[in-house]
Amino acid sequence: APGKPGSRGLLGFAPVPTSSDDAFTVPPGYETQVLIPWGTPLSPRGPKWRKDGSNTAAEQERQIGMNHDGMHFFPLGRGKEGNRRGLLVLNHEYVDQQLLFPDGPTEMTREKVAKALAAHGVSVVEVEERKGVWQVVESRYARKVTGTTPVEFSGPVKATHPKLRSNNAPMGTLNNCSHGVTPWGTYLTCEENWNGYFGTEDSSWSPTPEQARYGINAGGFGYRWHLADERFDVARNGNELNRFGWVVEIDPTNPKAKPVKRTALGRFKHEGCTVVESRGRVVAYSGDDQDGDYIYKFVGDGNWRAHRALGRSPLDHGTLYVAKFEDDGRGTWLPLSFGTGPLTKKNGWQDQADVLIRTREAADALGATKMDRPEWIAVNPKNKDVYCTLTNGTGWPGEANPRTPNPYGHIIRWAEKGKDHTATTFTWDIFVLAGDPAYDSSVDLNEDNIFGSPDGLWFDDEGRLWIQTDISNSSQNLASRGYDNIANNAMLAADPRTGEIRRFLVGPRGCEITGVITTPDRRTMFVNVQHPGEASAAWGSPSPANPRAVSNWPDFDPEGRPRSATVVIRRTDGGVIGA
Ligand code: FEO
Ligand code: CA
Ligand code: CA
Ligand code: CA
Repeated sequence: APGKPGSRGLLGFAPVPTSSDDAFTVPPGYETQVLIPWGTPLSPRGPKWRKDGSNTAAEQERQIGMNHDGMHFFPLGRGKEGNRRGLLVLNHEYVDQQLLFPDGPTEMTREKVAKALAAHGVSVVEVEERKGVWQVVESRYARKVTGTTPVEFSGPVKATHPKLRSNNAPMGTLNNCSHGVTPWGTYLTCEENWNGYFGTEDSSWSPTPEQARYGINAGGFGYRWHLADERFDVARNGNELNRFGWVVEIDPTNPKAKPVKRTALGRFKHEGCTVVESRGRVVAYSGDDQDGDYIYKFVGDGNWRAHRALGRSPLDHGTLYVAKFEDDGRGTWLPLSFGTGPLTKKNGWQDQADVLIRTREAADALGATKMDRPEWIAVNPKNKDVYCTLTNGTGWPGEANPRTPNPYGHIIRWAEKGKDHTATTFTWDIFVLAGDPAYDSSVDLNEDNIFGSPDGLWFDDEGRLWIQTDISNSSQNLASRGYDNIANNAMLAADPRTGEIRRFLVGPRGCEITGVITTPDRRTMFVNVQHPGEASAAWGSPSPANPRAVSNWPDFDPEGRPRSATVVIRRTDGGVIGA
């Protein structure tokens, strides 16, 4: 029968009930293993994790960072060996300074800023299944890309651009949320809420309109790094922030290669960067996760293999577009090209570099459609439909954001004209409106699949759509927000052919679920648990004296602290995950 394990659709597991437990729960017939929690040495011989948060900045440089997010598995070895051995490459979005330091963030020092920067960025770690257990192994590829790693700029915006000249050399990537993978085997890490790291004590400073459009203000998100490191003081080093908001390319098999910021893809709060090919060209989709911001795509010029053959990056040559959704179910991609439409000298635009540095303002000028916080984008391998999570938001005008306000979010879907990702028109519909019918009768979900605030989104090769949720801790488990029945964050699987959705796992308290990938045989899945134990309106606030106030996952050590981690999920019968 539909909805039951063994039915003929893509989903063959029993739905997991909602839960507010401090546990990671999977369906019957599945097993889990915690891998690479924050602080795990990149090499088995590296510095050991200290559970009181006292690892130094230098030690953190050689350990897995904090707050795991987007992730990919690059198989190593030949054929089937790649199902048991590979490089896990994962983002570390931000740091919780309450957990990062033994005494919390009260006093900010140079060493604390250095440790925080070392816990950001990207980890490349080699993992292997030995005797049924996944483990970190010694590797020539293991590396960290952090907030201080030297980086290059490529594409229309050069490192020498007057707006990018700062008091320090180009370095670092910050707030790496989701990611992408190129057809030539590199990893793209995306800079999302980078604005929050900058601030100043200078009361004479105020943001320019250009800075304000990106959310720059004197207080930032409260990291207070600017008190100990001039790099983050907007009054003293104001151009440093123009080096952030980009997509950054990393070659996981060349640990000596500098990460490259690919400026042709635009500057905003890039959630992710989903790359597909169409007619030999490369196309990259990316959401700008801010309430009322936009969905973009980059379309490469010419054949990507031809660019590579000439030693050029296919991501440096092409056109950036922003989406406009019409209420009749049609849509258009508007080019952000200097000299086109309103983006002229007469209107104050200098050149393509200027358009890219001020991507948001350029998209405003084009009249793109404001959206309810665009998050991950995934492409159905079976029919090329494109899906984007809109996590929650104001409920901006137009049918593409159909609920006002929109506390639960939705997933929008579009088909490019002629199933060609380079097309400039498309048709769209709403795949699912998230929520709880107990609070919103327009929601067509039930106890097996109620969810809210969809964020992570990924298709496996068989066409299962995996949906991950990020209900913020101001709403998670709270009846006052209509989120008590939905409870902890979760991951669901959907069959896009039938519309069926089932809850596959539920995470521990205070966390979000984000980042999912399988081995090529789809029999091992890796999923990230981010910020377990984050301060929560449902359970309280951690402090240096009680870092376990909300959660003690995954160690459950009475003297430890909650840690973000990757969870390995397998079927006890060795079958395909989700089938
Ligand atoms: Fe980092 Fe928009 O989630
Ligand atoms: Ca997050
Ligand atoms: Ca996210
Ligand atoms: Ca989110």
